[in-house]
Amino acid sequence: MRHVPNLETLPLPGTTALADDFGASVIEGLSRPQKTLPCRFLYDARGSSLFEEITELPEYYPTRTEIGILKQCAAEIVDGISSGDVLVEFGSGSSLKTEILLDHIAGRVTYMPLDVSESALSEATARLQGRYPALDIRPLVADFSNLPELPDEFAGSNKTGFFPGSTIGNLSPNEAVALLRSFRNVLGDRGRLIIGVDLKKDPRVLVNAYNDSAGVTAEFNLNLLVRINRELAGTFDLAAFRHKALYNPRAGRIEMHLVSDRVQDVMAAGSRFHFSQGETIHTENSYKYAVSEFRELASKAGWKPKRLWTDAGEQFSVHELI
Ligand code: TRP
Repeated sequence: MRHVPNLETLPLPGTTALADDFGASVIEGLSRPQKTLPCRFLYDARGSSLFEEITELPEYYPTRTEIGILKQCAAEIVDGISSGDVLVEFGSGSSLKTEILLDHIAGRVTYMPLDVSESALSEATARLQGRYPALDIRPLVADFSNLPELPDEFAGSNKTGFFPGSTIGNLSPNEAVALLRSFRNVLGDRGRLIIGVDLKKDPRVLVNAYNDSAGVTAEFNLNLLVRINRELAGTFDLAAFRHKALYNPRAGRIEMHLVSDRVQDVMAAGSRFHFSQGETIHTENSYKYAVSEFRELASKAGWKPKRLWTDAGEQFSVHELI
C-alpha cells in the first residue's frame, strides 16, 4: 500500500531535522573539568511548563517588568513599523509579549514567528489568527542560533526583529555578538531590532530571582537530571544534588549549578562520571548588562543603538537597534 501523508501531520514550512544528540552532549559536558550541560536541554515538556511557572514567581521580576515596559511604551516602540513591513520574532514560543505590539500594528504587517517547537508555533498561530483576523502570519520552524534565509518574497520588505526575554543574556558575550550579527544579516541594512535585556542590579535581587523560595527554579534545574535518567538510562540520585544560583560579579552573570552533596559515581549515556563532594555541574548563565555595556556589544555586531525604554526602577531595558 502506498503511504499517503496525513495533511494534518505535514510539517510547517522551514522544518528541517533539528535533531540534536542529547547523549553525545551529555558525555562531552560531564567529561570536562568544570562539568557542564547545555542549557537548551532544560526545555523538554516538563522544563517548558516549569519555566512558564518561573515567569510568574514573585521573585522573578524580568518577565513582568518587561511586559510593563512593552505595555507602557508600545505605541512608541512600534512607531517606525510601516504598512507592509515584516515583524520577525526570534524564538517566539507562545508569542504572548508580541500581542502587546500586534495590538497596534496587526492590520498592516506580516508577523513571522520563528521557533524550534512546531507545536508552540501552531498553537500561537491559531490563537493570533483568531485574535487578529487580518494579520498575515508566516510561522517558520527554525532555530534562531542557526537561522535560515527568509522567503524570497520578503527580500524587499523592511524588517523589524523582536527578541524579548533577555534571552541574549543566556549566551556568552562573544556568542551574543555573533547572534546579533546573524540577526542583522537576516533583517538587512534597513532592519531594526527590538531586544529585551536584563540590567545589572543589587546581586541579592538577582540571586533571589534565580533561587525562588517556592523551589520552582530548583525543580527546573534538577529536571535536567530527571531527563538524563529517563532518556539516557541515567542513575542520578535526585536527593544527592541541589540547585544553586550565584552572581559572578567579574563576568557580570548569574550562574546556575547543580551541586553534588556527596562523593558519588553516576552512570549516564553508558558512561560513568565521578563527583566529589561539592562539585558542580554548570547548567546556565544569565548575563546582565548596563545600558552602555549592551550598546557596546551591539555595536560590535554592526548595530547602531537608537532608542531605549526602561521601567521606573531601572530593572530591565528594551533597546532599539538600527
Ligand atoms: N533569559 C531569561 C533569564 O535569563 C529566562 C531564563 C532562561 C531563565 N533560562 C532560565 C530563568 C533559567 C530562570 C532559570 O532570566
